[in-house]
This record gives sequence, C-alpha cells and structure tokens, in this order.
Amino acid sequence: MRLDKLLAELTGMTRSKAREVIQGGRVCVDGEVKTVIAEQVNEDTVCVTLDGQALVFHKYVYYMLNKPAGTVSATQDRSDKTVVGLLSEADRKRRNLFPVGRLDKDTEGLLLITDDGALSHRMLSPKSHVDKLYFAKLAREITEEDIALFASGMRVDGELTALPAALRKLTPEEAEEFLPDGGVAAAVTLQEGKFHQVKRMFAATGNEVLYLKRMAVGGVRLDRSLSPGAYRELTKEEVSCLMADAGMPEGEMKSDVDK
Ligand code: URA
Repeated sequence: MRLDKLLAELTGMTRSKAREVIQGGRVCVDGEVKTVIAEQVNEDTVCVTLDGQALVFHKYVYYMLNKPAGTVSATQDRSDKTVVGLLSEADRKRRNLFPVGRLDKDTEGLLLITDDGALSHRMLSPKSHVDKLYFAKLAREITEEDIALFASGMRVDGELTALPAALRKLTPEEAEEFLPDGGVAAAVTLQEGKFHQVKRMFAATGNEVLYLKRMAVGGVRLDRSLSPGAYRELTKEEVSCLMADAGMPEGEMKSDVDK
C-alpha cells in the first residue's frame, strides 16, 4: 500500500493531509523517517509512527449510530437520507461501510455500522440469536397475558411465528428517560429481527407501537451521550463483546492488528 494511503487509513486524516505530514518528516516506518509519499509499504508488517507515536492498524471499523427517525438503513437511497450518509465524509470515504441489519425508517436508536462482512453475517444469522433490546411507546399498557404470550413464542400473523421474547414494563428511571413527557411504554428483547417484528408482535396483542427505539444489541448498549444522528467508534471491549455474542471464535477477531 502507498504510504500516504496507509497513513490516512491509520489516522482518519485526508490523503492530502497525510502527504503534508509525510513530507514534513513526521512519519517513521520501522524506525526510519520516510518523506516519499508514494513509497510502497507492507501494511501487514510495518510499524508506522507519527510524531513518535505508534499507530495501530484497524483492519475493520465499527461504529454505533443513534439512528434518527426519517433515515433509511441503507448505504444509498434515491429519495431518503441514509444512515451511512450521516457519517462524516472522511469516515464514509475510508471504507465500504454498511449497516448491520435494518431498523424501520421511523425507528430510532442503536444501529451498528461496519465494513466487517463476517461479523455482520454472523450477527444477522438466524442461528446466532443475538438479543436486541427495544423500548416501545405504546397505545395501551401491557398485561400479564401479553408478557406470557411473548415469553411462550407466539404466532404473530399468517407469515410470522416469533421465538420466545422477554416483555416487561420499564423501570421508573427508564420510563423517565425514555418518555420524559409521560405515556405508556414497555421493553422487549428479541432474539431475532424479522420485518417490522416488534410492531407486528404488539399488533397481534391488539396494541400499537407509537414510537420505537433500539437500546442494545447483544452486550452493547446505546451510548446515552449520543443524540439522534450522532455516532462513535465502538471500544475494543464492545467489539469483543459483539464477537462473543455473534459466536465468533477468538481466531476470527480481526478488529485490531497491533503492529
Ligand atoms: N421491529 C420493528 O417493528 N421495527 C424495527 O425497526 C425493528 C424491530
């Protein structure tokens, strides 16, 4: 890989900034200052430093986005704003990023965005059964019968039979944060992610979802400091947690390849 491209990948800086930094003599490869921007380097073996700081090569990137309503879970769309379009231009251009699964256009909350196809495939595999926690604003209170029905695995409609799902009321603290203006709400944890599943499950109990937000995927919770439309990279611990949730063996963990 060209040195300027590698530096841009390692740091997130633009290619032109990377060239400026290399020409300024601030970059070392295996201990030697390099000023030729087009120099070919082996990204799998070299140790690159910038101003004396070793840079870590991230083979894949993982972001959590707080998806706002009105955006579609896609990389491109003719008429609607996409979730990938919410990322900065520099982040978008660096990688072939895509959302891990889909949330409806009007659903908000945690959406993972990555370029790691293997992890995405495992997360979405029906065999993985990765838990997804949603908070739903509802038209009416849930009942003990609803909770039992969700827990037993239910026939939702002609096309959908749902695996057992955990339904509960929100704690007072959760309710205060989720619906500060009041209203009826519940938390539901699904092991799967079929089309409009939460809305269809509530509809099957004669209820209606008025607003839906995904709060967690596996052991990764939506960062409360992210306002709708904001995103951040997952921490190393969060990536490890997702890998474990998706049943990826340690050997397949490719998130951080420290040089
Ligand atoms: N279930 C739904 O009904 N909608 C979503 O966006 C996600 C789960």
